[in-house]
Amino acid sequence: MQIVKKISKMQSLVKDIKSQGKTIGFVPTMGFLHEGHLSLIKTIKSKCDILIVSIFVNPTQFGPEEDFNNYPRDFNRDEGLCQVTGVDIIFYPSQNEIYEPPYLTFVEVDKLTKTMCGISRPGHFRGVTTIVCKLFNIVRPNIAIFGQKDYQQALVIKQMVKDLHFNIEILTEPIVREADGLAMSSRNRYLSREERKDALVLFQSLQMAEQMAREHKYAVEQIKNEMVKKIEEIPTAKIDYIAIVDPESLDPLEKIQSHTLIALAVYVGKTRLIDNILVENLAME
Ligand code: PAJ
Repeated sequence: MQIVKKISKMQSLVKDIKSQGKTIGFVPTMGFLHEGHLSLIKTIKSKCDILIVSIFVNPTQFGPEEDFNNYPRDFNRDEGLCQVTGVDIIFYPSQNEIYEPPYLTFVEVDKLTKTMCGISRPGHFRGVTTIVCKLFNIVRPNIAIFGQKDYQQALVIKQMVKDLHFNIEILTEPIVREADGLAMSSRNRYLSREERKDALVLFQSLQMAEQMAREHKYAVEQIKNEMVKKIEEIPTAKIDYIAIVDPESLDPLEKIQSHTLIALAVYVGKTRLIDNILVENLAME
């Protein structure tokens, strides 16, 4: 396994790989890897010749009041995990390497970024699409993979790939959860013991919502209200948003449809957590 810090080195490696006719699979991450990241790595491994993982905590996707400085980092641990999962190259650039000043160019996807996480995190998706676009240009993958944990992010990236004519196949991977249902996230490590228990309310309220959706008896507003009630029972929890939307357009739904995305963001203490359930193939009356 190679660790590459320079863009020029990465580009020359990519050129060699391509000249040998080999395909590149790519997993962009911000490091502090957990089973969620590893499932992306394992899924793409069998679909490409050379597997590249990037580890870069991207400053442009964090708001001024957000946790960029505190975001957990442990490169040595990540390196070990990449080694055992069969990663070929870790791309691990510095901030200055990626955003060499003066840095002036950004990529923005419209509409899909104006709802849900885009409302409470203005500029977040602009940072995500900018870094992913830059990484795609450096790594030039044939395929790349994103987790459904960040459903909106994966959708926004698919839109960018289509709109900007990237010749890259985008795969998505289901959410990996802890045994008790909490979606794995690098941010879970911020939670105190008490908050860790409280955080279960995200998945529990989503499961309740899915159940209600499948029963066909409830209006969207009723389902949302029940979710609010359940979450508000937890004193450390504060709802950022609950969305019941079309999984392709992210437009709010007036009625549950056969494919429905139920997503939420909740602060547990100071930690903002997201989760979602894609309710699929609901038999409609
Ligand atoms: P990061 O949060 O490190 O996540 C990297 C990838 O792992 C994303 O595609 C994310 O959706 C996926 N992932 C995280 N937790 C997961 C889980 N529990 N189950 C399945 N997949 C999971 O997302 C980012 O980094 C950044 O925004 C990035 C795309 C790298 C751009 O900076």
